[in-house]
Amino acid sequence: MAQLWGGRFTKETDQLVYNFNASISFDKKFYRQDMEGSIAHVKMLGKQGILTEQETQDLVAAVKQILREVEAGELEISHEYEDIHSFVEATLIDRLGDTGKKLHTGRSRNDQVALDMRLYTRQEVLAVDGLLEELLHTLLTIMENNIGTFMPGFTHLQKAQPVTLAHHFGAYFEMFKRDRQRMQDIYRRMNYCPLGSGALAGTTYDLDRYYTAELLGFDGPTLNSMDGVSDRDYLIEYLSALSTVMMHLSRFSEEVIIWNSNEYQFVEIDDAYSTGSSIMPQKKNPDIAELVRGKTGRVYGALISLLTTMKGIPLAYNKDMQEDKELVFDAIDTVKGCLALFNGMLSTMKFNKDKMEASAKHGFTNATDAADYLVNHGVPFRDAHGIVGQMVLYCIDKGIAIDDMSLEELKAISPVFAQDIFEAVSMETCVEKRLTVGAPGQEAMKKVIAQEKETLAQDWKSELPDWEQALLEFPIQNSQN
Ligand code: ARG
Repeated sequence: MAQLWGGRFTKETDQLVYNFNASISFDKKFYRQDMEGSIAHVKMLGKQGILTEQETQDLVAAVKQILREVEAGELEISHEYEDIHSFVEATLIDRLGDTGKKLHTGRSRNDQVALDMRLYTRQEVLAVDGLLEELLHTLLTIMENNIGTFMPGFTHLQKAQPVTLAHHFGAYFEMFKRDRQRMQDIYRRMNYCPLGSGALAGTTYDLDRYYTAELLGFDGPTLNSMDGVSDRDYLIEYLSALSTVMMHLSRFSEEVIIWNSNEYQFVEIDDAYSTGSSIMPQKKNPDIAELVRGKTGRVYGALISLLTTMKGIPLAYNKDMQEDKELVFDAIDTVKGCLALFNGMLSTMKFNKDKMEASAKHGFTNATDAADYLVNHGVPFRDAHGIVGQMVLYCIDKGIAIDDMSLEELKAISPVFAQDIFEAVSMETCVEKRLTVGAPGQEAMKKVIAQEKETLAQDWKSELPDWEQALLEFPIQNSQN
């Protein structure tokens, strides 16, 4: 047991209590953010004359050294400490003696942990945005290559009207594009620094919270110290956005599973992204898509869990809030894993264009267009609807598609039909005539793709300050563990 407190206690903490309370097993995940926060805090204390120049230099150098050693695997974060904050402070005191004991001047673990979690999450908002960006690139490439790949569009999982693969994937492009916009919104709203809120009521030291905020790449300090230590809204927003990402991935997975089935055979998942059966030698299963669909529940669970944890907490900090970490970390790791794997599965997937086209042709997806043909020749729509209904019945009976009917057969149902009906109901015409913005017609699709390409070329992340490099003055590897 290694704790930062104990002065007012006359007894040792019960071991079970200690274990129940300790958070090092999971909050060591943000060791880097904790040390970066400490460096910024010390630099600010130095600037304000609260620490001497020498103390500031020694503390900054020692924290940087500890960080280097941890990143290099030379210093192990020992679980004998209560939390990551205690580990860093104890190591500093070990190395610097009394100077180390000055690190925590004007700071509480409440604002410290609020900062660490915010720094960690902020970085993960960017990471998820980056993965979404990669997925959008994959989708756009598939779209560009498939503006002429016809397939049935569905409603109620029944063939409805013909579309193209580009158009179908374009729908997912829009979903993941909005997911990225949510990441950007969350980033902007959360980007305020809680450090300097103290335990709950600020501090009497003359802290420069604007300076600390700037050193850590924030847009400014949070403006209420009680809210600063107890706000977890940004985590709820992030979990909500992550849940939406998973909902999109799960819908997409469901389609991949259906399309990959023996019955559909629209796509074939690459061997590298499929799994086999231990008993049935013929099986090639879409486990990745199923797992992504399955893991969605886990991320939703994290959102509901944190909402529930927060709902009864009086101001300001309460220990309940420690529960935010494991579930947020798990949701982040889950979503990142799912995005990366889904992207890999999608970019290696084979599309059976012939099957898609044949399916579109044999599902009466051009029935609406046949009715529109009649309308264009003076038949009221409701009558046209009835006539084409009869045609469909006739075709089902004969096992043919509308396009396969002879002119005589068509004329027997309605004399309005003439030779040009065949062009009017051909797959090409059915799709090509749909040229409203957002529709599958080639020309309409090309315009949308060009516009999306432009949007994708603008990367909001590139405008963010490189605060980490400036703060640490040494390059930081991007990997997390
Ligand atoms: N481990 C705590 C958490 O995650 C850090 C803050 C502890 N503060 C306190 N007053 N006990 O929330």
